[in-house]
Amino acid sequence: MEQQGNTLPPREFMPKHVGIIMDGNGRWAQKQGLPRSAGHKKGAEVFEQIVKDCREMGIEVVTAYAFSTENWKRPKAEVDAIMELLRSYLKRLDKFHREENGRLRFLGDKTPLAPDLRQLMEKVEADSADNTGMEVNIAVNYGGRAELVRAAQLLAQKVSNGELSAKDITEQTVADHLYTCGQPDPDLIIRPSGEERLSNFLVWQSAYAEFVFMDVLWPDFNREHLAQACWEYARRNRRFGGV
Ligand code: FPP
Repeated sequence: MEQQGNTLPPREFMPKHVGIIMDGNGRWAQKQGLPRSAGHKKGAEVFEQIVKDCREMGIEVVTAYAFSTENWKRPKAEVDAIMELLRSYLKRLDKFHREENGRLRFLGDKTPLAPDLRQLMEKVEADSADNTGMEVNIAVNYGGRAELVRAAQLLAQKVSNGELSAKDITEQTVADHLYTCGQPDPDLIIRPSGEERLSNFLVWQSAYAEFVFMDVLWPDFNREHLAQACWEYARRNRRFGGV
């Protein structure tokens, strides 16, 4: 299937859930002699635009990796800058769930986050919980392995309460105890910046995802790159273990 100018693949070949590892912000800033936080600021603007582009393209779920469980190792100023970008985004979110009927979820453990940020996140999640339009997941203090440990703990608790029997634990019950419960698995995972690894993102959910690695830094990522990744996805022959 060949890309036709500015068009998108036919609807049935479009991904429904796209995961994005927003990588390359630091290098983008460094290249222009700016502090790393400037790269994250531009990265957050690109995220907002790409969410709109995804919605216009009919993509139903977008999951973006904003902060991993390992990112706490970064200098405090950089961590604070990323948290501030999240805070400012959340304060401007009205339009997303009022006019676009979007639902927002945060994947990850909110416990170590600043109490005001945590409250904002919980409010947006609760306010948008019944929205039936596009779903946006932002992974913050997220790690795929930590998510699986949490699911194991939740299931163990149910077994010890007598709510569940160990033999009734299936792939579906595990999936139901992940942050993404009820959502389709990602069809396509895009990682810009030239790095080619999963970095603990959606470890369970990406079992059958198609990966597209792109040689562009996230702050330079645009709608054309998104369309190009969708075309690349549409060309793949997904067999899910069959022939
Ligand atoms: C990876 O690039 C990027 C991050 C660790 C942070 C991403 C966060 C944002 C884009 C802001 C989040 C805000 C909203 C509103 C979603 P890097 O810093 O590792 O880049 P490098 O590999 O070039 O150093």
